Amino acid sequence: MSPQPQAAVGAPLSRVDGRLKVTGKAQYAAEYDVDGAVHAVVVDASIGRGRIRSIDIGAAEKHQGVLRVIHHGNAPRLAYRDNAGSNNPPGRRLRVFQDDRVLFHGQPVAVVVATTLEAAQHGASLVKVEYDAEQSSTDLHEAEPDRPTNYARGDAEAGLRNAPVRLDLTYQLARNHHNPMEPHATIARWDGNKLTVWDKTQWVVGTHDELAAVFDLPAESVRVINPFVGGGFGSGLRCWPHTVVAALAARVTKRPVKLVLSRRQMYFGTGFRPMYEYRLRLGSDRRGRLTAAIHDIDAETSSYETFTEAVMAAGQMMYSMPNVSQAYRQVPLDVNTPIWMRGPGLATASFAIESAMDELAHELGIDPIELRRRNEPSEDESNNLPFSTRRLRECYTVGAREFGWSRRSARPRSRREGDWLIGLGMAAGVYDPGRFPAEARARLDADGTAVVESATSDMGPGTYTSQTQVAADALGLTMRTVTFRLGDSLYPPTGPHGGSATMASVGTAVVDACDKVRNQAIKLAVEDRESPLYGVDSSDVVVRGGRLHVRGNQARGETYRSLLARNDRSHLEASGSYTGPPSPARRSYHAYNATFAEVAVDATLGLVRVRRMLGVYDAGRIISPKLAESQAFGGIVGGIGAALLEHTVTDHRDGRIVNANLADYLVPVNADVPEVRAIYLDGEDNDGNALGVKGLGEVVQVGVAAAIGNAVFNATGRRIRELPITAEALL
Ligand code: MOS
Repeated sequence: MSPQPQAAVGAPLSRVDGRLKVTGKAQYAAEYDVDGAVHAVVVDASIGRGRIRSIDIGAAEKHQGVLRVIHHGNAPRLAYRDNAGSNNPPGRRLRVFQDDRVLFHGQPVAVVVATTLEAAQHGASLVKVEYDAEQSSTDLHEAEPDRPTNYARGDAEAGLRNAPVRLDLTYQLARNHHNPMEPHATIARWDGNKLTVWDKTQWVVGTHDELAAVFDLPAESVRVINPFVGGGFGSGLRCWPHTVVAALAARVTKRPVKLVLSRRQMYFGTGFRPMYEYRLRLGSDRRGRLTAAIHDIDAETSSYETFTEAVMAAGQMMYSMPNVSQAYRQVPLDVNTPIWMRGPGLATASFAIESAMDELAHELGIDPIELRRRNEPSEDESNNLPFSTRRLRECYTVGAREFGWSRRSARPRSRREGDWLIGLGMAAGVYDPGRFPAEARARLDADGTAVVESATSDMGPGTYTSQTQVAADALGLTMRTVTFRLGDSLYPPTGPHGGSATMASVGTAVVDACDKVRNQAIKLAVEDRESPLYGVDSSDVVVRGGRLHVRGNQARGETYRSLLARNDRSHLEASGSYTGPPSPARRSYHAYNATFAEVAVDATLGLVRVRRMLGVYDAGRIISPKLAESQAFGGIVGGIGAALLEHTVTDHRDGRIVNANLADYLVPVNADVPEVRAIYLDGEDNDGNALGVKGLGEVVQVGVAAAIGNAVFNATGRRIRELPITAEALL
């Protein structure tokens, strides 16, 4: 941390943008009043694969208010320059309206632009598309896997063969959709050859770069604006086809165009957490020491891009064992391309691994926490690096104590309250936080207020607030005198707002910029004969509440305002940066948790009710305790959804998603969310970011589903290896 006193960091502050949000003054992508904007509605493919034979737009074009109907037969050709950035996975990205191919059910095949939303919607219903349909393939279990990624250490086959205890378990994980409250939306406006886009995105820079590539524009001709994001969970980590459709429609009609995806369209217009089949074979000795693991992991991807995520990491480093082999296979299906969803990869892997650990504990008659302790590694066995910090043991101890783990009966189905079977379960979690290069700019004005800017996002974790906290402390200002701005590609560039990377990355750049500004002011003061600080060693000057003073002697000093006024300075400013983690890595840097669940299962109906949840986190320094607690609650709620409710269902006959709405795709509501508690271990992790943070937005969802599944087993004696765990499965 900086030598500055820390007043805001660590304080449980409320959101600086809270009032804007609750009064409706925070503007989301679709809410901008752009002069002359017209409305666009996408027509999406009603077959799962094939070709467009013909499109009849006559009736649509005649409908009052309709300006244009654009499709592959009349759309301008787009450059789609190579762009390996912007989170585009390897492959050939979907090129909207560039040919007659249909690659998945719901692919955009036309867009209707009209003066009103109603006219565009009705116009879209009048577009008649005929197809030459082919049989689509959307079933993970029927298709051929492809493109494997392998990992091996030791000899897993032999290790397993020789193990006195062997388990062979296959877990199925449903496809999940992010379902943020705010729908994905874009407003696009061209001013000559300059494109301005208001877009729901977690990464204005990525969307900026992708639009420049698609439309073959110089970087300075594109601007992406998005100061507020109404939830993301990963769905905004990439520029999706509808954003290109909006910009294309605006170019063709020479009008600003607003395009909002319907809830239904978000199920194929943006990405999703892919469906997985995860087979895990575990070998151990009779005391529970793991000797071997073989992971066979199949995940869906699209036919045109290969999406991958960190599903292999946990199996390589979570527990100590000499022999590991993994095969991670992508199964190309006629679906749109998946994307990361909260706790990406590791939430998936942890369901398999942490459920299997519970199965092994039961098999051996060892307490699940004790089993994990016996397999705690002393270093990261995937790369032989020491851990920067790994405090899982402490998570177990604190969690067991606070949750009342000792009250758990090891024998399943041994606790009953009326119709309800009660069970306790736990799981461990790990997340590999991202750290991306980032830049920021800080300016201190003569009135003693400051503005700090960085092109990051705030999808809900509270970036505005937490970055204001670190900036205020580094500048020696109060929270109220610092304004943090984000969500505009004109601000200094950053990586994506995701992967738990934002505080370590953007926060470090913000502190760097603010440290520089503060040091400029200190230098000005100690070299200024008229300053009370004249001649003081710079390192002895601190700033607090906008006033510079000698450390330990508050009386000797002056304010930024008097210093800048006397020196005739309108402002001081500086740029700061974060260049990324140490390379090559010197330490294994991960966030951890132990998550505990208590469930009640109706013995006759199979209904599962979560009663209590506790997460204990080793996430480094906590900048903003109130926001961190909210993040933990959100992650646990997301985990309850994955465990018990969320399941995107596809009709394999034609690739249609049958529950593309919030009535049939179930998410947790208040009644599903019981007593939830979060405990963050005090401490910091200084592996390459001065703030000492590890990031916490993702790890909070990892392990939650396994903890619930393990509690269901403890309650019922039934092991359900398929997510979501439904009442039907428990009957
Ligand atoms: Mo997070 S899945 O990187 O939004």
